[in-house]
Amino acid sequence: MTALGGPWESLLDSARTYPSPHNSQPIRVRVVDDATAEVFYDLDRGLPAENFGIPFGHVCAGVFLESLRVVAASEGYEVTERLAHLDMDFDAADRLHPIATVTLAPRAASEDDARLRAAFDRRRTNRRPYEGRAVPDADLDAVREAALGAGHTFATSTDADVVADIIRVNQETLFDDLRNDAVHAEILEWLRYSETEAIAKGDGLSASAMLMPGGALRFAMQHPGMWDAPVLGWIIKQIYLRTMRGVAQVGWFEGPFAGPADYLEAGRMFMRSWLELTDRGVALHPLGTVITNPRSHAKFVEVAGVDEKPPRMAWMLVRLGYAKTPPVAHRRPLDQMVIS
Ligand SMILES: Cc1cc2nc3c(=O)[nH]c(=O)nc-3n(C[C@H](O)[C@H](O)[C@H](O)COP(=O)(O)O)c2cc1C
Repeated sequence: MTALGGPWESLLDSARTYPSPHNSQPIRVRVVDDATAEVFYDLDRGLPAENFGIPFGHVCAGVFLESLRVVAASEGYEVTERLAHLDMDFDAADRLHPIATVTLAPRAASEDDARLRAAFDRRRTNRRPYEGRAVPDADLDAVREAALGAGHTFATSTDADVVADIIRVNQETLFDDLRNDAVHAEILEWLRYSETEAIAKGDGLSASAMLMPGGALRFAMQHPGMWDAPVLGWIIKQIYLRTMRGVAQVGWFEGPFAGPADYLEAGRMFMRSWLELTDRGVALHPLGTVITNPRSHAKFVEVAGVDEKPPRMAWMLVRLGYAKTPPVAHRRPLDQMVIS
């Protein structure tokens, strides 16, 4: 790759570890000059089969912009954004959906910038079993503040029945999604059954990140009919539920979620919250599929007692707590993110 202008190479090389649904890494960047770059969402890396594929596409763009802001701030730059806020269309002829033009201006990095950057570098999705303890209330204040600042609320529950119900709904979601042919085909595209394949492709959901033996994951995912078989279905369910042990707390974000601007701001706030939790040593696992699967969403709203009044929606559900460090999810090299 030819060297990028100004600080972009260093900034983008760090920011490319932003999280994305199915680790599809849809954000692409064209560097215009030393101070300016254009940010796009690559529609070929989107998840069109998912109900909410488009809203979560914009959410992911917000997650990226917050990631870039944190990385740039720690390296002495303030980012100014000119946001496009265009409706996304997975069938568009131009596969690069414009998100924003971003501009860098020098600004001294503060201690807080360094703190958030350290959290950014450490952040991972944690799908391991959790240690059965809830997060102290004071450690959730920063998340509540981040949510309120964006017009959202962050609610949590440590009620054992609510937690158990949500873990069950999440597991049922996986089984239900596989019965939908389009969603099933889409998940298959992003699964990586061996570490060699995960490293070579640098994207997707690897067996190790999912804490499943590669062979078992391949068999289970390629034969979804088996999931309804009494014995085999039960075994698959137990393997999956083993990773969900020890969950003592779930949380959800609720707020305006009715158009590109809402989705993007929600994503930005979600990333900020994730970093605040990481900074406090809290593990997090987004359970986004419970939101995007309509049947699961309805069950979740009922279990959690959420009163959704449009344009407000409970748009993200997470489990949170404490757990061992999870495996790393691989990323594509910088030259595949940058548009030359
Ligand atoms: C908006 C959003 C929704 C997500 N939803 C889920 C989900 O439903 N289930 C899941 O296991 N991981 C989910 N993830 C986590 C991604 O799969 C994860 O970020 C990606 O694989 C990269 O791994 P990392 O977070 O460890 O870097 C979600 C992430 C984002 C940003």
